[in-house]
Amino acid sequence: MQKKIATLKEEIQIEVQKVFLQENENLRQKLFELKMQFLGKTGKLTDLLKSMKDVAPELRPEMGKYVNELRDYAEKLFAEKERLAREKEMALRYEREKIDITAPAIFQKKGGLHPITLIQNELIAIFTGFGFTVFDSTEFETDYYNFQALNIPEDHPSRDMQDTFFIHKNLLLRSQTSAGQVHVMEQQLPPIKILTTGRVYRSDSDATHSPMFHQMEGLVVDKNITLCDLKGLLDAFAKRMFDCNTKTRLRPSYFPFTEPSVEVDLSCVHCHGKGCKICKNTGWIEILGAGMVNERVLQTCKIDTAKYSGFAFGLGIERIAMIKYGIPDIRLFFENDIRFLKQFNSAKGEK
Ligand code: PHE
Repeated sequence: MQKKIATLKEEIQIEVQKVFLQENENLRQKLFELKMQFLGKTGKLTDLLKSMKDVAPELRPEMGKYVNELRDYAEKLFAEKERLAREKEMALRYEREKIDITAPAIFQKKGGLHPITLIQNELIAIFTGFGFTVFDSTEFETDYYNFQALNIPEDHPSRDMQDTFFIHKNLLLRSQTSAGQVHVMEQQLPPIKILTTGRVYRSDSDATHSPMFHQMEGLVVDKNITLCDLKGLLDAFAKRMFDCNTKTRLRPSYFPFTEPSVEVDLSCVHCHGKGCKICKNTGWIEILGAGMVNERVLQTCKIDTAKYSGFAFGLGIERIAMIKYGIPDIRLFFENDIRFLKQFNSAKGEK
């Protein structure tokens, strides 16, 4: 019996040591399982205590003392080791969760805005600064809004100016943001001062034309609006968008929805009028179409032409971006080459 007690003591010591040889965060669990193997209901030590009844009565007090001593020893040992296990577990956990606050930060890669969006935002900022508000219009239009109400009858040759994608006879992808003008004039009474902007579509594709591109249109209708107001506004716009020395000039042109119509040129932003490759040595770059709103358009929208007049202008956002950034090919905007797009955003953290 005594030998049994001694072996059991040794066994407990060895097994406890073994648990501590492992580097893991479950020490207390392991220790608990081990404790149960000896001190649990069916544990070896408990069994030994139970077997005391089989020991000869004269030996019982002495043996009982030994077994009780072993139980006390084991209980103390496990309590002590449990405390150690908790410390070791915490140390391991601190090590695992250690944060080096001196380590360089990991930068999140940030996306950036597309150059067309950047220019669009800049244009909106400039014109809203002049008192314009943005009117959202649809990309699908009926023939009426895209053409007829803008003084372009069905069989009129000026339709050829815009090679249009028709969905069916009466429904099309808008070929110009001018279509938005008509909606505004139908819905609002003068004074009107709005911008319509967004995607437009034409069946056209080369280095300077894309089947989908972006336009921005401005419309002002009020009493006593003249071509001078248009020129003054576009002058101020050009100086804000490019630089303060930029000049504008108007050339006669033709649009069915404006009369008179003009083409607006900008003094070349690259050579400042001296003549270079970009302005084809003329010193001027064409940037937009404009004019006084044709009375027929105003009348179609039930605006009293005896009282009111208006001007409108429309520009291609890609064209403005190409001029501003010196981009030679419109297709670059739509190829999504990250090396190209990255140049327009100073996104921090990009590597
Ligand atoms: N809608 C014309 C175009 O797309 C541009 C324009 C707008 C011209 C407004 C005059 C007035 O070509």
